[in-house]
Amino acid sequence: MAIYEIQHPLIKHKIGLMRKADLSTKSFRELAQEITALLTYEATKDFELEHTSIDGWCGRVVVQKIAGKKVTVVPILRAGIGMLDGVLDIIPGAKVSAVGIARNEETLEADTYLKKLVEDLDKRMAIIIDPMLATGGSMVATIDMLKASGCKEIRALTLVSAPEGIAKVSRAHPDVNIYTASIDQGLNEQGYIIPGLGDAGDRLFGTR
Ligand code: PRP
Ligand code: URA
Repeated sequence: MAIYEIQHPLIKHKIGLMRKADLSTKSFRELAQEITALLTYEATKDFELEHTSIDGWCGRVVVQKIAGKKVTVVPILRAGIGMLDGVLDIIPGAKVSAVGIARNEETLEADTYLKKLVEDLDKRMAIIIDPMLATGGSMVATIDMLKASGCKEIRALTLVSAPEGIAKVSRAHPDVNIYTASIDQGLNEQGYIIPGLGDAGDRLFGTR
């Protein structure tokens, strides 16, 4: 597995803004969406192109298009929903496969409560979105589920990642690449990322 911590100045600036404790729900949501669009741009840089001939204003013209790559975006509910529009801003035609996973805050185990995947998963690249990669339990459970349903190509976008979670995904799924805005210091005793963003789901949904 490769982990790509994207060094773009806009991403560094925006993730810094998100760390402010008294940021409004509106601003937190907007920044999550903006950073996700930038991460999507980085994570799709190696998509292959092919040539095609079209009718242009002055006759036939050869243009380039993405070579048959079909994508499904996989938000891990609830917090992953906060990144969905950011991906769809860049890949508007992507189908969405929703996965509901909640972390048990006592045991930190990932508990799956929803699985609504596209039918042709075996023909699509899955782009998993979740703001927080903490212990890695939720991400590994999602990748396990996608692979069990036939998915062969998987990438993940996260806003903040802990080294513990990166190591866990890397051990379980060395073929999955992760694109993140920040690799942080690590986890506290409650499994929260330090310095992190706090509870990303609560901050996105205004439930804190
Ligand atoms: C958060 C976050 C991840 C998970 C990360 O979700 O959005 O899905 O925790 O933790 P892990 O790497 O230790 O599994 P949470 O379970 O709080 O649910 P929510 O999205 O509904 O708020
Ligand atoms: N989930 C969150 O929302 N934040 C963390 O720091 C860890 C898990």
